[in-house]
Amino acid sequence: MIPDFGAAALRLLDPETAHGLAIRALKHAPIPAAAPDDPILATRIAGLNLPNPVGLAAGLDKNAEALAGLSRLGFGFVECGSVTPLAQPGNPRPRLFRLTEDRAIINRMGFNNDGLDAFAAHLRRRPPATIVGANLGANKDTGDRAADYVTGLRGLGGLSDYFTVNISSPNTPGLRALQGRDALDDLLGRVAEARTTPAPVFLKIAPDLTADEIAMIVEAALAHRIDALIVSNTTLDRPDSLRAPDRAEAGGLSGEPLKARALTALREAAAAAAGRIPLIGVGGIASGRDAWDRIRAGATAIQIYSALIYEGPGLVGRIKRDLAARLRAEGFSSIAEAVGRPC
Ligand code: FNR
Repeated sequence: MIPDFGAAALRLLDPETAHGLAIRALKHAPIPAAAPDDPILATRIAGLNLPNPVGLAAGLDKNAEALAGLSRLGFGFVECGSVTPLAQPGNPRPRLFRLTEDRAIINRMGFNNDGLDAFAAHLRRRPPATIVGANLGANKDTGDRAADYVTGLRGLGGLSDYFTVNISSPNTPGLRALQGRDALDDLLGRVAEARTTPAPVFLKIAPDLTADEIAMIVEAALAHRIDALIVSNTTLDRPDSLRAPDRAEAGGLSGEPLKARALTALREAAAAAAGRIPLIGVGGIASGRDAWDRIRAGATAIQIYSALIYEGPGLVGRIKRDLAARLRAEGFSSIAEAVGRPC
């Protein structure tokens, strides 16, 4: 995650070693700051003023330890985590697989992270200018999953610009069951009670849901004052198109083969939401065109992860330049004007 040629070199290493090196580089290497953003890209979601709509998705910086470097790459916002109340090792290695032929990744990390205290300590030293979100998860062995999200929210109050309640990671047994109506009402009700700061709370959902399930989640989110939906996490699906040797590994699939499914889920969320709650589009975005498609489908902002591994951090600037050019070419004067306006 240093220069793009650095990203190519990192891909020669085993994926988890490469990830560790990228985090170290982001912490310690002198990374030049990205150029200031084109003002046409400025946008607003749930009260947060973003300099541009291109965010970093959760999972790359699980411990919020690399914000010094990440804040210089030009993202409009950076989401750290998932963090769980207690530190936990995650699943045994190998648990991260590069599907190079498919421009994809399979991971079954299992919320490996250093826990809430370490995360909070890092956030206390965060660079001030960047919008930072804390993505909250539940410990694998917890007796009460909802209580873990409440603990996260309380423990990071005042330290994070927004929170994401992540109930869609496929690698913690039972977590996705929180997307069912009763569990969701219980969880979101307790989250609503635990909110003590004005920081908005987002809900991140799976792409492996029916349109009816997505519509139900939209209503539950609205009922419990969730501020935005993030659509989507990784998929358990394995499209027939996959070619890479590791395609049958267990875990969540991300990158190019997730693109169509994540876009469909976003469209379904947009139809159900009908403008009542903002959306963030994630999954397989690897170009300005992909980002534009999500915005036109109803996303106020987007996030990327897998494509960064293949393209390097220069991708952030390329997406932003392309978006600014598309806005002007189509006569829009802001991102907000293009949101949900079909091509
Ligand atoms: C993830 N993702 C993820 N999401 C989340 O909410 N909490 C997490 O801890 C993680 N961890 C994680 C690890 C790895 C290695 C990957 C590749 C992904 C999911 C990520 O934020 C995103 O939703 C998906 O990867 C889809 O976007 P991309 O990667 O296709 O751009």
